Amino acid sequence: MTSTDLRPRSAGGAPPIRLAARLSGIRGSAIRDLLTLTARDDVLSLAGGLPAADLMPRERIAEAAERALASPTAVQYSETAGLGRLREVVAAHETGRTGRPVGPADVVVTSGSQQALDLLARALLDPGDPVAVEDPVYVGALQVLQAAGADVHPVPLDGEGMRVDVLAARLAAGFRPRLVHTVSSFHNPRGVTLGQERRRDLAGLAERYGFLVVEDDPYGLLAFDGDPPRPVAAHGDHVVRLGSASKVLAPSLRVGWLVAPPVLAAAVERLKQSTDLCGSSLTQMITAELLADEEWFAGHVVGVRRENRGRAAALTAAVDAEFGPAVTRSTPSGGMFCWLEFADGTDTAALLPRALEQGVGFVPGGAFSVDAPVDGGALRSAARLCFATYPPDLLREAVRRLARASRRPDS
Ligand SMILES: Cc1ncc(COP(=O)(O)O)c(C=O)c1O
Repeated sequence: MTSTDLRPRSAGGAPPIRLAARLSGIRGSAIRDLLTLTARDDVLSLAGGLPAADLMPRERIAEAAERALASPTAVQYSETAGLGRLREVVAAHETGRTGRPVGPADVVVTSGSQQALDLLARALLDPGDPVAVEDPVYVGALQVLQAAGADVHPVPLDGEGMRVDVLAARLAAGFRPRLVHTVSSFHNPRGVTLGQERRRDLAGLAERYGFLVVEDDPYGLLAFDGDPPRPVAAHGDHVVRLGSASKVLAPSLRVGWLVAPPVLAAAVERLKQSTDLCGSSLTQMITAELLADEEWFAGHVVGVRRENRGRAAALTAAVDAEFGPAVTRSTPSGGMFCWLEFADGTDTAALLPRALEQGVGFVPGGAFSVDAPVDGGALRSAARLCFATYPPDLLREAVRRLARASRRPDS
């Protein structure tokens, strides 16, 4: 478009704005759209993946902010790849998680892990490149991959995460993805965790067929019991890990990171320069202090895990009491989501407006379908509920409202 095209026209109104063709391939996020509807004060929203604000360490963040602001660094531009101190802390943390040496040069700090995924896709993919994702899919990943013009192939999930055997069969038949995206632990939206054997198999397939696994892991530390699952990256070199402070500290810090071989980290850094120059020095300094205070951080995470476990138990007990055998549900063992399936074939997209009338929000399963069939396809009768946002009493009330909505006939 030339500059003349942008000049206001006196007759006939403004000139049409022609958007880039790439936008037509990106599905809008039904979830982001829903958040607008569910933001009403009278709605208890189980729709967003919102961690509990009451569990976020606001006082500790304020103390760290005050300390950080004593230095002019906190208010200045910083290195594109992230503050050196934070990269060191993240590298140490990732070395501990994966049992493999991670150095600061392998880490790029980003504006949430969502930006890391976007930069990574732009660094790795040309339009038409094949990629694989889980189905149902994390919608944020689908949007990024669609924006990169990728040819997206769904791989089904079951109770143990991605069907790595299905992927293996397709690879043997000639499928050659550039990358495979997985939410390996406490999947969004299904809540399931990739089994250890499957993790090993997936890392092995990546090496054999030369693709990268993108292990998107914002929830791994939020296991209710026991140690966090051992990352896929513990089993091989062809894995890029995405991590985030959002679910363990606070999403408003907008601190996430990517751990990748230095050549890929450098490519991502170059793209980030053109995107935002650098992230916020202030929130990176705060995050570095909180993650480096190992004793405090470990205690904080234990507290979040304990509280989330209680919330999940309250939600699932309420679902059982209100719906009985009419609904099959997952049993969360970490993360933030519970997955419901209505046995009678209820169309959850049609249920949603009635639920909002009753004052409760959720995300219909069809929103997570890779191919987005108009009727919601196989996910038509499913729903994702977030149990992390509210304390138990409000979760029980939300489920009562959902049950009332589901008993009302279609209008
Ligand atoms: C699987 C997954 N990855 C990434 C993100 C993005 O998190 P953030 O950008 O806040 O780090 C989310 C947010 O809900 C998520 O569920």
